[in-house]
Amino acid sequence: MDINGTQLQIGYGGAPVVEELSIQVRPGVITSIIGPNGSGKSTVLKALTRLLSYQHGTICVDGRDLRSFGAKEFARIVGVLPQMHSAPPDFQVKELVGYGRVPHQKWYAKNSDEDKRIIDWALKATGIWHLREKCINECSGGECQRVWIATVLAQQPEILFLDEPTTYLDISHQMEMMQLVKKLNRENRIGVVMVLHDLSQALEVSDWIVVIKDGKKYDEGVPEDVITPKMMKEVYDVDCDILRVPGRQKPLIAYRELA
Ligand SMILES: Nc1ncnc2c1ncn2[C@@H]1O[C@H](COP(=O)(O)OP(=O)(O)OP(=O)(O)O)[C@@H](O)[C@H]1O
Ligand SMILES: [Mg+2]
Repeated sequence: MDINGTQLQIGYGGAPVVEELSIQVRPGVITSIIGPNGSGKSTVLKALTRLLSYQHGTICVDGRDLRSFGAKEFARIVGVLPQMHSAPPDFQVKELVGYGRVPHQKWYAKNSDEDKRIIDWALKATGIWHLREKCINECSGGECQRVWIATVLAQQPEILFLDEPTTYLDISHQMEMMQLVKKLNRENRIGVVMVLHDLSQALEVSDWIVVIKDGKKYDEGVPEDVITPKMMKEVYDVDCDILRVPGRQKPLIAYRELA
């Protein structure tokens, strides 16, 4: 399943915030979108996942117009973790994760044994099994984030769109989450599109990186080609060195020391 956005113009009613942007989501590939705050990353993600309509250009899924998909049909292909989310506070964790199964169910169906097995798997994979009986409003920020990720995983989509999935997570859960994303990608060939702010993580986990600056695509390519001192200066106005360390596959980003 590939998704092709061509010459996209996207906005919220006023002046467009994304212009002339083309992006290709290739099957089985981990693509990260990076760029400064307000540059248009979430806007692009929302357009690709039908949360926001686009003004010009085309988006096709395997050659078919995005707008021709039914909601449930699309949800069987694409799972989305938005940057902002809210749930009724009295929902139990396992109930919310169960909602991930809805695209696969008839409207009158209860959870089948298969659904229950997948819900349990998603709860365990995201490390929230012990929270399953809790209400959402009794969960911490990081726990809530993992509940949402579990809900998207329970959907078993072919492509996962994750807008800042590691927000609220401590370093250990961040690494677990990136490991999980990589495992799902490598073992189940799930395509992943993520917005990441941690550029070291983007370097480590991505097959492809798209850099957005001021609503336009600044560059794209394999991580080592894209994350350079020149890009860091031009896009983020930050000085850094990219260091090769013996014994490590990926380079490290060394930011300039504070004055
Ligand atoms: N609902 C909205 N209505 C109007 N303008 C919006 C809306 N959401 C975002 N914008 C504007 O669109 C631009 C791009 O926003 P977007 O959320 O895509 O940025 P982003 O790259 O995801 O930033 P961040 O890293 O802070 O999440 C910003 O100027 C923002 O103010
Ligand atoms: Mg955003």
